[in-house]
Amino acid sequence: KEPSVSGKPKLLVTRLTPPNVEARIARDYDAVTNPDDVIWSTAELLKKAEGCDAILCSPTEPMPADVIDRLPDSVKALATFSVGYDQIDIPAATKRGIKVGNTPEVLDNATADIAMLCLLGAARMAHNATTVLRTGQWKRWEPTGLLGVHVTGKRLGIMGMGRIGRALAKRARGFDMEIHYHNRNRLDPDLEQGAVYHADPEEMLPQCDFISFNCPLTDQTRHFLNAARIEMLPQGAVMVNTARGPVVDDNAVIAALKSGRIAAAGLDVFEDEPNFNRAYLDLPNAFLLPHIGSATVETRDAMGNLCLDNLDAFFAGKPMPAPVN
Ligand code: DGY
Repeated sequence: KEPSVSGKPKLLVTRLTPPNVEARIARDYDAVTNPDDVIWSTAELLKKAEGCDAILCSPTEPMPADVIDRLPDSVKALATFSVGYDQIDIPAATKRGIKVGNTPEVLDNATADIAMLCLLGAARMAHNATTVLRTGQWKRWEPTGLLGVHVTGKRLGIMGMGRIGRALAKRARGFDMEIHYHNRNRLDPDLEQGAVYHADPEEMLPQCDFISFNCPLTDQTRHFLNAARIEMLPQGAVMVNTARGPVVDDNAVIAALKSGRIAAAGLDVFEDEPNFNRAYLDLPNAFLLPHIGSATVETRDAMGNLCLDNLDAFFAGKPMPAPVN
């Protein structure tokens, strides 16, 4: 491995980060950066990683086991600019002795805000309403037109009551929603705050006027909401996904949105982003956003800084503040 001329750790940074994060990278690392923010192929990434001690990566760089195994031996740490780390094969990284860090907590509020926006946007048919306005179809106020569904007093089922799920519950309580949740473990009463726990997620589904996915993507959650489970929801339920696209089966959701079995969906994430299933675009009852859950200036700054805190700690021989493995 070529030693770093500066004596600083050699860092590969796969995506453009906020200005003050870039400045901190330039100050503290001998960095290969991506000022034009192009998406590198795996082959390009592996080539650029040669001689690097660590990679500041993101969800746009898939790192399954075969990519982890082909990383240069010099790479000892990965800091992903995301709370989700489903794009990285963690057991493969651990096996190779590569430490992985992520960015929990700092994006909870921003992401919960977008979940609430998706919930309201779906419930009130915001996509259809703005389309009517923007395409000149708004002719008059309609006593019976552009009707959504009421939110106040409805039951919201939250799949995954981690920090983001709890931040959504806090917001939804402000709308007088009744909170139900499924989580691997039941929360302590101070965190539960009266929410109704369902150990069996299928048992929760019939209670969900609204259902929101706030869980990680795992083998257990992949395509959780499929055609059979949609049938367990009340007729005309509203669904929200700000977690990861593959927790729902797009074909089943699209069919249910077309038939009205699901009244509306608010989606910030999709399977195979950005090449999502284009059938969603034809649905007036789908409120769609391009994966902007954590996209505020403040949150992206905090995420970048937490990535660097993880890396700084690693190179100081200390535990990462946000370790994954
Ligand atoms: C996250 O942090 O996981 C966000 O979804 C961005 O990918």
